[in-house]
Amino acid sequence: MSNEKSFHMTPDEFRRHGHAVVDWIADYQSRVESFPVLSQVKPGEIRASLPSDPPAKGEPFEALLKDVEKLILPGVTHWQSPNFFAYFPCNASGPGILGDLLSSGLGVQGMLWSTSPACTELETHVLDWLVSMLGLSDKFLSSSTGGGVIQDTASSAALCALLAAREQATNYLSNQKGCDGRIVAYASTQTHSSLQKAAMIAGIGVDNLRLIEVDDKFAMRPEALARQVEADRRAGLLPCLVCATVGTTSSNAMDPIAEIAKVCQQQGLWLHVDAAMSGTAALCPEFRHLQNGVEFADSYNFNPHKWMFTNFDCNCFWVADRKALIQTLSILPEYLRNQATESGAVIDYRDWHIQLGRRFRSLKLWFVIRHYGIEGLQHHIRRHVQLAQTFAHWVREDEDFELAAPVPLNLVCFRHKSGDAANQTIMERLNRSGDLFLTHTKLNGKMTLRLCVGQTHTEARHVERAWKRICQEADRQ
Ligand SMILES: Cc1ncc(COP(=O)(O)O)c(C=O)c1O
Repeated sequence: MSNEKSFHMTPDEFRRHGHAVVDWIADYQSRVESFPVLSQVKPGEIRASLPSDPPAKGEPFEALLKDVEKLILPGVTHWQSPNFFAYFPCNASGPGILGDLLSSGLGVQGMLWSTSPACTELETHVLDWLVSMLGLSDKFLSSSTGGGVIQDTASSAALCALLAAREQATNYLSNQKGCDGRIVAYASTQTHSSLQKAAMIAGIGVDNLRLIEVDDKFAMRPEALARQVEADRRAGLLPCLVCATVGTTSSNAMDPIAEIAKVCQQQGLWLHVDAAMSGTAALCPEFRHLQNGVEFADSYNFNPHKWMFTNFDCNCFWVADRKALIQTLSILPEYLRNQATESGAVIDYRDWHIQLGRRFRSLKLWFVIRHYGIEGLQHHIRRHVQLAQTFAHWVREDEDFELAAPVPLNLVCFRHKSGDAANQTIMERLNRSGDLFLTHTKLNGKMTLRLCVGQTHTEARHVERAWKRICQEADRQ
């Protein structure tokens, strides 16, 4: 045996420090409510507290964990606080965190089936489970023409859908020759900005992403969509994809998918359905009507990392025709050739997304589903929706506040009646207080407050306190 210093952490040290880290996380979970939800540091403050040079010699692990507590925690916005009501949630859970830890522990890179068969097959299996759990069409099953894949984010899913739609519309020529400025895609004025980014990256161009007008509920107008597609065809352009949203980011609006699907069928367009947060609600049969028509989608995605207790990142993306996606994204250099791939009997997920390498993300999703069971997941989704509906009721009953949009699920858009400045002040004071964190949007040109209930441990008392604090700040006006 060489006496040379290895610098590595031994398995015994790993066990000891690992226990300490798990203890630290468990303690964090039990005291998360004691921190101001929105980090109160100023720009540059965290960096200024860090040593300017990296350590020449390794440090004891205890020092690292101490510095997380002392230097990092003050700069953390506590997304896992039950008083987090901002944006859309990014919730997590014990089983999700432990599944992620195991994924790191195994350290698998699952670009090909053969680089770790379990990484591919568990993913395929869990995504098939989710098709039935969410009441989606059987065409998304791997045993059918389609199949599912875990992407990092809804942004990547939208990009993949747009690329496949672009290739299908151009007979797979744009991959070869590039785009000629004639390809157009469609979303609504309320669609998430990731579609614009996808249009930029896919070479379609933001000007060629038509933003279709919405109705008074902020949902896409299918007749306006049909008119625009026809006008584009008349102008010699090449329409390829429509993105419909189940639960827009701004106001949780539900696009009329069935009617949009009709336009897509008539015009031969790829229909991508983005259900980033609200797709999770389909776990409960009573909410599935919100995505009626989803059976006509060519691709569909939702983020378990938003509302399904699976820590970031985890996006589930399905296509009805996996051949179109694979033909769009597949490249097989010599160094990746292997017998399993050549046999055609396996899925190689590197052909289903942008990057080559991939983590074993399905472990955390599998853990979450097995820990909660469908019953547990439904329980919490119903609870969150109920809490948001109760909050909406309080807003409706209050003479100083009003609802700014329908409340189909767990997002409440509301405002104080005295105008933008008042709402801005209320929000800033609340967020500065650290008691809760909520964010805003603009609807019909007016500043609107958004309160989204979706954090794993949010209970009635947190929502009651949020309302009380909002009313207190309003009274200070
Ligand atoms: C409707 C919708 N689509 C897409 C996204 C982008 O999500 P991601 O961060 O997974 O790309 C969001 C984020 O909030 C969203 O609300």
